[in-house]
Amino acid sequence: MKAVVCKAFGLPETLVIEEISPPFAKPDEVVINVFACGVNFPDLLIIQNKYQFKPDLPFSPGGEVSGVIEAVGEKVKHLKTGDRVVALCGWGGFAEQVVVKANRVFPMPAGMDFINGACTLYTYGTSYHALKDRAQLKSGETLLVLGAAGGVGLAAIELGKVMGATVIAAASSKEKLNTCKEKGADHLINYSEEDLRSRLKEITQEKGVDVIYDAVGGKLAEQALRSIAWKGRYLVVGFTTGEIPQFPANLPLLKGCSIMGVFWGSFAEREPQQSLQNLGELLSWMKSGKIKQHIHKVYSLDEAPQALADLMNRKVIGKAVVKVRTWTEDVPVPKVDSVKERKANQIIAKPLKIKLADIKKYIGQSLAVTEWFMMTQEIINEFAHATQDNQWIHVDVERAKAQMPGGKTIAHGYLTMSLAAKFFYELIEIEGATTAINYGLNKARFPVAVKSGSRIRMTGKIVNVEDMPNNGIKLFVECTIQIEGEEKPAYVGELLTALY
Ligand SMILES: NC(=O)c1ccc[n+]([C@@H]2O[C@H](COP(=O)([O-])OP(=O)(O)OC[C@H]3O[C@@H](n4cnc5c(N)ncnc54)[C@H](OP(=O)(O)O)[C@@H]3O)[C@@H](O)[C@H]2O)c1
Repeated sequence: MKAVVCKAFGLPETLVIEEISPPFAKPDEVVINVFACGVNFPDLLIIQNKYQFKPDLPFSPGGEVSGVIEAVGEKVKHLKTGDRVVALCGWGGFAEQVVVKANRVFPMPAGMDFINGACTLYTYGTSYHALKDRAQLKSGETLLVLGAAGGVGLAAIELGKVMGATVIAAASSKEKLNTCKEKGADHLINYSEEDLRSRLKEITQEKGVDVIYDAVGGKLAEQALRSIAWKGRYLVVGFTTGEIPQFPANLPLLKGCSIMGVFWGSFAEREPQQSLQNLGELLSWMKSGKIKQHIHKVYSLDEAPQALADLMNRKVIGKAVVKVRTWTEDVPVPKVDSVKERKANQIIAKPLKIKLADIKKYIGQSLAVTEWFMMTQEIINEFAHATQDNQWIHVDVERAKAQMPGGKTIAHGYLTMSLAAKFFYELIEIEGATTAINYGLNKARFPVAVKSGSRIRMTGKIVNVEDMPNNGIKLFVECTIQIEGEEKPAYVGELLTALY
């Protein structure tokens, strides 16, 4: 297979393009046919042996990919050949295939294309973790983003706006700042021409900045810290200038402020539930169009060293992406795995198709399992808002952290139950029915609460079919909603559907 290879540590021009042997999956790994690979700053560091992870030579850089699963190791149960996925592989992505631990591979969200899939998790995941979990940015606060037109910087601008902050974007050129403005920044500072401290004084009317997001380090860092507000939070995200700042300890004392480290990769590993919750929230904002990746340029695999050089030379605004292979919209055709494999994985690709006229023949028919669905805090909040049920156990994240077992809010039982209808349409497709009305739920029980950030899915069985007036059919489906990692279900009940 074709790959970009780092044979000796050095700058992008030392990388070579070569044919190398394809990888194999160990029991807990998957092999992905790479479609696209994001270009991230750590790729530049890793080829110079300056990154915290140090693969043995020779290796391919490229830490974030999108593609289609080619092979799965025997212990991998939640992924299968043909799945469209995104993955955080660390390195190896600038190649036609990459092997990745299965727990670093995620189904590609519906509606996301391969280019966006290859460059979204890392930047938005980092910036959201920084602003939400570390700084606990609040609506109405001011947020300063240094290196604001870079990958994590633009994500921080958008997220700052979604979280209700006033955003000050600081970057090195007018062109970069124009993009920051398009992404919603309220104030712009060109730090190659303007004095950072006096501009911040002017913009904040001498109050200082509440949260500083620093992905650049160097000389700007101390200037920014000197401009922080009382009880401000300074986020140490990265050092693209190559200079790790050294702060005098009297500054945090005088400002009553905190200097906070951000290490998204470690957070995702140590706090996987919280990280999944964050990703779920990000995905729902992407779906609703509140946040959108800015793609600077798409490069070919041969041009990957050039993409890295452009990043190094500060030419990239937003994200550069390497398109590793070409595809058309109807490709990839997922490889059809054998019925035996599919049963073992308990996953169906398509709903069971039934003709309305034949439906009685299916009494006793077990249905397969739906895809996982993430119960995010945002979904819980929307349900609370719609039903006016705002009990703190559902919506007060801070109090739940302190008082609930596991430190999580829990979803309303009726919210979980309501999802039975959505899942039903993933399991059954009835040909010849023009109307389907989900109008009742029998024998509902809620054995285990669903915590926010956990994933649920449904399986079921057709237990009865009865005639109704006006040629209608009453369908009884026994539903079981499972929670990932829990033996007992979240919900068991019978869903009644009238079909005409
Ligand atoms: N802590 C974490 O968990 C985490 C996660 C992801 C990334 N990071 C780090 O965050 C930093 C930014 O990553 P990114 O992917 O957003 O990078 P990026 O897209 O290259 O953006 C970085 C910005 O840094 C500025 N910069 C200043 N001096 C530079 C120099 N000498 N070379 C290159 N850029 C320079 C550039 O803006 P101007 O030209 O406007 O100054 C550039 O837009 C990196 O250090 C990366 O390792 C940390």
